[in-house]
Amino acid sequence: MTTLLVNIKELIQVRKPGTKKISGIEMKTLPTIKKAFLLIKNGFIIDFGSMDSVPKLACKKIDCTGKMVLPTWCDSHTHIVFAGNREQEFVDRINGLTYEQIAKNGGGILNSAKKLQNTNEIDLYEQSAKRLEEIMALGTGAVEIKSGYGLTIDAELKMLKVIKRLKENYRIPIKATFLGAHAFPSKFKDNKEGYINLIINEMLPKIAQENLAEFIDVFCETGYFSVEDTNKILSAAKSYGLIPKVHVNQFNTIGGIQVSVKHKALSVDHLEVMTSEDINSLKGSDTMPVALPSCSYFLSIPYTPARAIIESGLPLALATDFNPGSTPSGNMNFVVATACIKMKMTPEEAINAATINGAYAMNLSEEVGSITKGKKANFIITKEIPSYGFIPYSFGSNLIEDVYIDGEKI
Ligand code: NIG
Ligand code: FE
Repeated sequence: MTTLLVNIKELIQVRKPGTKKISGIEMKTLPTIKKAFLLIKNGFIIDFGSMDSVPKLACKKIDCTGKMVLPTWCDSHTHIVFAGNREQEFVDRINGLTYEQIAKNGGGILNSAKKLQNTNEIDLYEQSAKRLEEIMALGTGAVEIKSGYGLTIDAELKMLKVIKRLKENYRIPIKATFLGAHAFPSKFKDNKEGYINLIINEMLPKIAQENLAEFIDVFCETGYFSVEDTNKILSAAKSYGLIPKVHVNQFNTIGGIQVSVKHKALSVDHLEVMTSEDINSLKGSDTMPVALPSCSYFLSIPYTPARAIIESGLPLALATDFNPGSTPSGNMNFVVATACIKMKMTPEEAINAATINGAYAMNLSEEVGSITKGKKANFIITKEIPSYGFIPYSFGSNLIEDVYIDGEKI
């Protein structure tokens, strides 16, 4: 099927094939075409350009007068497969407890793990599918989803099977990450090596055998997995072909970035606490730094120092971290706005970070993340807005009129 979008007020993020990621000063530029057309066929972008050269075709037409078109958001870091919620911990934090204190008292990740272990696969699928549909309606057109609330072989496999079913039943690209190393289960509180051995010797082989994940993640943090643990797990995962995307520098800087870069991580995520040494370690690597501003917002912790990262020439991606504990929100529009408001990213930088750089952080930059010939026709049509800067400016408003995945309106 062929569809022609005409009279687009501004077609945003038009890129040549082969553009993988945008770094440093280049992030300030967001290439667009004013008064544009976009031609899509069988789910792919075939052509685009100025209305002056619009092709004369007898096909379905969509008039976009006053509206903008941009690629769907690429959310490269989520935990949307979870059971129930942690609303009580939210109230506990309002009343003065910290995220770390709650975790020490048996709440946090272990609380979610208990709930997930007691939820059957069908129920877990239904809860997760609802979240996926919610984020798609908010403009997300590619997403990474992690395990890590199972923490037993069966429950981790249950999570990864739910992700697999989501992949089968929804058209948006979904990437699965194995995060067995998210927290130490209570049973292994005094036997951390035992749990790491379980991950390496039992979970990893099963997951690889059933082809349930493309990425490996570790929560490398004081009180969770040390740099040495991370090194061991990433080394083991490598022999199964899993690529690292690692939780680092959320609360402390302990060397997580360095060990991740050593293992050629695709991304390092969180980065709320960064030294100049940490930033320097990323220079010259292919590892994408990923900021999660709605996590900082929800937990009232520092924001990732976007300015320092970008000004040192590095790229930066933005993602939601949608999860029940630190970020119960999967709204990429809010992420883009918060990045501008709190991290002082310009609208151009934030949109680059939430599209093409997010795609890179999922190994999807050949398929999504920009308006490029040959890429998937995954795009957002906005309501009538004066400029693309209006998207972060009008934080909290829904400016999306329609979302298209594979060329079809959802
Ligand atoms: O990315 N920091 C580690 N993992 C999640 C939160 C886990 C939770 O609290 O459930 C995160 O913020
Ligand atoms: Fe996370």
